[in-house]
Amino acid sequence: MRIDIVSIFPEFFGVLDVSLLGRARQQRLLDVQVHDLRDHTHDRHRTVDDTPYGGGAGMVMKPEPWGEALDAILDGTPEGTVVVVPSPAGTPFTQAQARELALAPRLVFTCGRYEGIDQRVIDHAATRPGVTVREVSLGDYVLNGGEVAAMAMIEAIGRLVPGVVGNPESLTEESHEGGLLEYPSYTKPAVWRGHEVPLILLSGNHGAIATWRHEQQVERTRRVRPDLLPDAEA
Ligand code: ADE
Repeated sequence: MRIDIVSIFPEFFGVLDVSLLGRARQQRLLDVQVHDLRDHTHDRHRTVDDTPYGGGAGMVMKPEPWGEALDAILDGTPEGTVVVVPSPAGTPFTQAQARELALAPRLVFTCGRYEGIDQRVIDHAATRPGVTVREVSLGDYVLNGGEVAAMAMIEAIGRLVPGVVGNPESLTEESHEGGLLEYPSYTKPAVWRGHEVPLILLSGNHGAIATWRHEQQVERTRRVRPDLLPDAEA
């Protein structure tokens, strides 16, 4: 999968060189290219923002550098390319969306700062052949810009690309897969600081263990995230 990131802080994305995603990049499973928006400015101060039309606090990112950056990235892009615009005004990012975006041939993350990007940049990108645009929020809180949100989404999506996570089974038994939170996990020793591992896990009875784990998932989801509970379990 090809991932392009446009930001005024390309150095933010140095962490993509470490851990699972770093290895996936080395193995060419993920081709991540980071672009500095300021390379598409033409004034001495490399200006990327201006005051908002209609007044109000803060600054808005100017359309021209974004237009030029996206022209360079999106000309000739494959059908199915998705431009992901991190924004607190977007739809909430979910595991289901991560699964869907992991199927795209190419993702382009546009990391805005200040009060966001001139809306026409987003509207224009949506008119490009083969391209869809998604405004996506990491959650109901405000970050200083799209970079941290893009990083989180790239990690959630990247680990679903085949080959990135060594054992694909570990992808199906985790929180938000199957609509429930994960069951609690334990490893050796069987007793630690007086706390025992639930005995059922030492029984070797795989059917009983599977039933217990499912019950734990339902109980935890009911307690922590009742909004996620499927009707059948409510
Ligand atoms: N930019 C600022 N806040 C954000 C959020 N909550 N999600 C995505 N992008 C953002």
